[in-house]
Amino acid sequence: MNIVTKISDWQALRKTLANKTIGFVPTMGYLHAGHMSLCARSRQENDLTVASIFVNPTQFNQAEDFQSYPRNNEADIALLTAHQVDYLFLPEADMMYPDGYEVRVTEDQVSQLLEGAHRPGHFTGMLTVVLKLLNLLQPTQAYFGEKDYQQLLLIRKMVSALFLPVKINACETMRAADGLALSSRNARLTPAQRLQAAHFPRLLQSELNAAQITAELISLGFKVDYIMDQWQRRLGAVSLGDIRLIDNVVRV
Ligand code: PAF
Repeated sequence: MNIVTKISDWQALRKTLANKTIGFVPTMGYLHAGHMSLCARSRQENDLTVASIFVNPTQFNQAEDFQSYPRNNEADIALLTAHQVDYLFLPEADMMYPDGYEVRVTEDQVSQLLEGAHRPGHFTGMLTVVLKLLNLLQPTQAYFGEKDYQQLLLIRKMVSALFLPVKINACETMRAADGLALSSRNARLTPAQRLQAAHFPRLLQSELNAAQITAELISLGFKVDYIMDQWQRRLGAVSLGDIRLIDNVVRV
């Protein structure tokens, strides 16, 4: 795998790949089987696959959450190499924000709901960095997990509104055997919290209504930000200690 850390190096390289289809898997690292399933799909559907690892400071609404976000570039590079990803774009924070984050992408409808209401500024930071990554990498297609469902909707909306020449693909959420959606943040759960966390997807998928699920989660020791039915889905965000988990399931 070719690791590119400088924007100018990627731009020079990109010119040599003009005849290739490129699949892009953007990540914040600490990679797991969910990310690898996106890479596997990209490899099937494109000549070349590019992953990025960038823990984007502007999408964290709390400094401690940014500091404590799990990181392990060495293990990530080994995993991406084993999965035959062709390129890794691994920029440093100051390279991505030469403007000091004075230029931003905002959306003022979907971004105000659910996650947006609980994490002010999160979606502006996320959309801004995704636009930068798409502009830099110029992929044919990009791959996003459905676990971050609101993020996926917003990226699709941005791509459509700004006429970006990229196809956005949604990939089904990967789950552990007990149903917990795979997430880099799961690594921070204690063994007891990890056992408890499985109640979250179990209740989301149950026949209970949103208010009943909320009450049940609270009685089990979760802090509940929301359980809400929207976009033919049931979406939820909860915390165990300082670890926040989000998930969603299809509602028919
Ligand atoms: O879903 C993520 O990991 C991030 O929000 C993304 C899309 C890589 C942007 O930083």
